Amino acid sequence: MKIAIIGTGYVGLPTGVGLAELGNNVVCVDKIESKINKLNRGELTLYEDGLAELFRKNVASGALRFTTETGEAVRDADVVMLAVGTPPHPLTKEADLKYIYAAAEELAPFLTGYTVVATKSTVPVGTGDEVEKIIRQKNPTADFDVASLPEFLREGFAIHDFFNPDRIVIGTETPRARETLLKLYRPFAEKCEFLCVKRRSSETIKYASNAFLAMKIHYINEMADFCEKSGADIREVAKGMGLDSRIGKKFLNPGPGYGGSCFPKDTNAMAEMGKKYGARLTLIETTIAENDARKARIGQRVIETIREHPEGKIAVLGLAFKGGTDDCRESPAIDIIKEMIRHSRNITVYDPKALANAKAILNNTVNYAETVEETCKDADVAVILTEWEEFRRLDLERLKQIMRSPKIVDMRNMLNAEEAAAAGFDYQCVGRKV
Ligand code: UGA
Repeated sequence: MKIAIIGTGYVGLPTGVGLAELGNNVVCVDKIESKINKLNRGELTLYEDGLAELFRKNVASGALRFTTETGEAVRDADVVMLAVGTPPHPLTKEADLKYIYAAAEELAPFLTGYTVVATKSTVPVGTGDEVEKIIRQKNPTADFDVASLPEFLREGFAIHDFFNPDRIVIGTETPRARETLLKLYRPFAEKCEFLCVKRRSSETIKYASNAFLAMKIHYINEMADFCEKSGADIREVAKGMGLDSRIGKKFLNPGPGYGGSCFPKDTNAMAEMGKKYGARLTLIETTIAENDARKARIGQRVIETIREHPEGKIAVLGLAFKGGTDDCRESPAIDIIKEMIRHSRNITVYDPKALANAKAILNNTVNYAETVEETCKDADVAVILTEWEEFRRLDLERLKQIMRSPKIVDMRNMLNAEEAAAAGFDYQCVGRKV
């Protein structure tokens, strides 16, 4: 099928590459010329495990192309996917739909033949109705349907998740749109459950899922705090809970709080939708407030470890909002660092992938290092904030030699507490007293 994808970010680009790999003819559109030029030169604009190889292969075969011209991409397309950003509105916490609406206006005149316009971006309930109105106004004779096709890819695992979905949710108002999208996703027919629902249900499924996962993380984080105080071990508690298939094993890793470009934005937007429809979502509201408070508390906890050396060096390992990505948007690490900056000007940070993105946010408020060794040299405390494999394999003997005070605050439970203690470290982790 011929597919146009508007937006080449963390959703649009992996989706475009995946659909091309499945045998479709895909054109990705972006307004940012430098991005399109780069992609057309065969260079990727974001880091995703496994993306580069499939990208190169499908560009070389001609199955995947890039352009700044919406018209060129949309003309003759069977499906147009909207994968533009829906950032928080600058004044409210609702999702800002200006990019979605602008894309709908822009593509409308170019629709030819029957086309399904599907929102891949996370959009509030009722956005499909608005998109439909905009296109109808701009092009009264167009033959089209608007669908909701929520995306469940995780950053860092986008390619893996694209080819191994848990479910495909298709939200449509007409059988014709449903059939078109079922045809597009047919290669997954044997792999996972297909859920064909009303457009508004589909839009809600995406928010309800992300908010639930955020709540699950908040829950395990609170339980971890409880375990630290009560003498239980969160790893054992999480395992015991997860063995109940109604609870499930996943997303029970305590840490510094959830972050990223999705959970913080989507929980806020969902809470605002609850207020708008007069159905308050109090669990989500509490999750948001407590997740924010947690990051400040962790900043304080680290500062507390250098109380005796207030000028002491803090070494931060990990800046990305989670391992496997270079993305620092709403990263708990960044918020924790911002809290620490209020008390210390001696912070050195390191991340194997996200240094450039972190620099754009933290500027000259911290020092930047290129290796773990450089980061931790003469440090009074090392803080692990992102779960990179490199940190799991830290050479503790070496670290002990180069640090001024052997203290580790491991907010991702990456290290073996007994080994850290045996190596002479004052070691703190999440969810148990060491
Ligand atoms: C999330 C969802 O998992 C995807 O299904 C969804 O498609 C995506 O948002 C989106 O809406 O686009 P993502 O933001 O890439 O994906 O990241 P996650 O892997 O879900 O992690 C989110 C945050 O929760 C990270 O800060 C991570 O460190 C934290 N987390 C996750 C925990 O602290 N503990 C866990 O057990 C799991």
